[in-house]
Amino acid sequence: MQNSVFIIILLLSSLLQSAIAGDVSTCKQRKLCQFYPFPIGLALDTEKLKYEEVYWNLALSEFSSFTPEQILKASYIHPRENKFMFTEIDELMRFCKERRIRLHGHTLIWHREIPSWMYRKKGSKSEDLETMKQHIDQLVRHCAGKITGWDVLNEAFNEDGTLRENLWFKRIGPDYISEAFRAANTADSSALLFYNDYGLEVPGPKLNAVLKTLTSMRQDGVRIDGIGLQLHITIDYPSKAALEQACRQISEAGFMIHFSEVDIRVTGQKSSKKKQRELLETQANRFATLFQLYRSLPKRQQYGITIWGLSDADTWLNENNKRSQPLLFDEKYRPKPAYCKLTDTTTRN
Ligand code: XIL
Repeated sequence: MQNSVFIIILLLSSLLQSAIAGDVSTCKQRKLCQFYPFPIGLALDTEKLKYEEVYWNLALSEFSSFTPEQILKASYIHPRENKFMFTEIDELMRFCKERRIRLHGHTLIWHREIPSWMYRKKGSKSEDLETMKQHIDQLVRHCAGKITGWDVLNEAFNEDGTLRENLWFKRIGPDYISEAFRAANTADSSALLFYNDYGLEVPGPKLNAVLKTLTSMRQDGVRIDGIGLQLHITIDYPSKAALEQACRQISEAGFMIHFSEVDIRVTGQKSSKKKQRELLETQANRFATLFQLYRSLPKRQQYGITIWGLSDADTWLNENNKRSQPLLFDEKYRPKPAYCKLTDTTTRN
């Protein structure tokens, strides 16, 4: 008797939970990457790929490109001065090669996730430059031929267009940027080289400064192939017009474009099941707009769209405990309206 009461309570509470979450599973899995003529990427959690079957199935059936979310960042892969941890990336490179999945490298130089030895090892300007170049050279050389493109530099500009005063800027000066790209090019002349940042999805001082700086470096002979727009955005910001304008500016400047870390946060009150459904519909429309816009870019400038996580249970945004449901699959790995819309042949243009 006690047992059946307990089971009934459990059933009721799970029903209540799904009512609050909103019933979001509305279509079957359809292999998202087959719907688009450019690569569709996933920010990959390599641990989940290894240990969670549902994650494995979706990652392999829906995506044609992977960006490791953690394992190429300096603190992870280069924890001591004379030690690179190549085991995991080696395994992943093999895995992707066998399955013809493209691998994108993220990221060589960033102001975060720097190993402590790099902070401690302060030498002369030329020694510091050598330290930075060695990091790039060894990592890129090791992966040469297996990683299609690299985010050579991540988040190096401030909102007002000035350069962020990160470790390498302070030690080497503004030239660290061109030196980083040159080092990557020397290590693998066939990998595509990207600058990656947030806030470039709207026109303004940051985008202008990035374009001006990268263009002038190109004129000096530095190879920079493309720009990654992270696109951690919300269901109502930025406007489609702003995004179109930003993409036009980048495309006219002659860079490839990667929508590199896409997630679209649901903002607003999820007060009722109906409201929750409406918000997820709005999110679906935003994803569709983004994909349509990308499709309209010149083909030779399309590198692909990468989604920053698989399901709403995996998103990095959960780290600050706000439930923003920014991805294509819900917390139980069921397709959300956004996924359904992106794979709906009747509404696609
Ligand atoms: C994030 C990862 O998703 C998190 O899991 C990690 O804790 C911190 O880094 N911009 C970037 C990414 O370029 O590397 C960040 O990834 C998200 C913001």
